[in-house]
Order: sequence, then structure tokens, then C-alpha cells
Amino acid sequence: MSKFILSTLLILGITTFTYAAEKYDTTAFRTVTKLCTSCHGTPFYMAKQIDDDDWDFYFNTPGKLEKIHKGKAKALANLRDHRFTNRKKRLLKFFIKNSKFSGSVHGCDANFCGTHH
Ligand code: HEC
Repeated sequence: MSKFILSTLLILGITTFTYAAEKYDTTAFRTVTKLCTSCHGTPFYMAKQIDDDDWDFYFNTPGKLEKIHKGKAKALANLRDHRFTNRKKRLLKFFIKNSKFSGSVHGCDANFCGTHH
């Protein structure tokens, strides 16, 4: 009997963990909020502006992001910030997951409450 209870709890625990882990990358969310939101709007709103191929193109074409932000000192500084350089791959994943045709819509939670700009 106790084995049954234990494995039930284990399965419940794994399910909860998986669900929580799947929602979205909150570290990427916070990083974008700090470095990009002042010009681009909330991270989900920003992600929705272009599709997955475009995100991939902007992030994986060397020098592209810098070129787009030419003359925008604040943006260029943020692109050089270690929080951006260290998490660039995570940010790209976040943007792609929430991009234009991804179909993802987010409701309220502690970080975000459905405002789109
Ligand atoms: C100081 C304001 C500013 C900040 C901060 C900023 N950007 Fe931008 N960004 C712009 C502007 C303005 C454009 C449009 C440039 C154009 O169309 O010529 C742009 C364009 C872009 C584009 C091209 C696609 C599009 O939506 O037009 C991408 C991708 C992008 N920014 C990514 C980022 C990322 C990632 C960050 C955070 C690390 C960031 N930006 C921070 C001002 C900013």
C-alpha cells in the first residue's frame, strides 16, 4: 500500500514539475524585460512582432542585431551586456516559442498579466 502511495506522489510530483517547467523561461523573460522592453514592449509582445525564421535570422546572422541598432547607444550597450551575451541562446528560444505564428497566449502570473505593450 505505501509503495502505491509513494509512486502516486512521485508521478504527481513529476507531472507538476513538468507542467511548471513548460510554461515559459522566466529567466529569459526577465532578461528581455531588463534589456529590451524599454523600446520593444513586454517580452511576449516583442516576441509576437516577427516569426520564428526572422528571430533565427536576426540572432544568427553575425553583427545583424548591432547593425539594426546602429546609433542607439542604449540598445548597443544592452547587446554587449553579459546578461545578453550569456543568455543569447535562451533568449532566442524564448522569442521563437512565443513568436508570431506560435499560437501561444499567456494569461496572468507573477511576472506578466496579459498587457501587450
Ligand atoms: C534604445 C531602444 C532599443 C533597445 C533597448 C532595443 N532595441 Fe531592438 N530595435 C530598436 C529599434 C528602434 C528597432 C527598429 C530598427 C529599424 O527598423 O530600423 C529595433 C529592431 C529590432 C529587431 C528587428 C526586428 C524588429 O522588431 O524590428 C530586433 C530583432 C531587435 N530590435 C532585438 C532587440 C533585442 C533582443 C533587444 C534587447 C537585448 C533590443 N532589441 C533592445 C530599438 C531598441
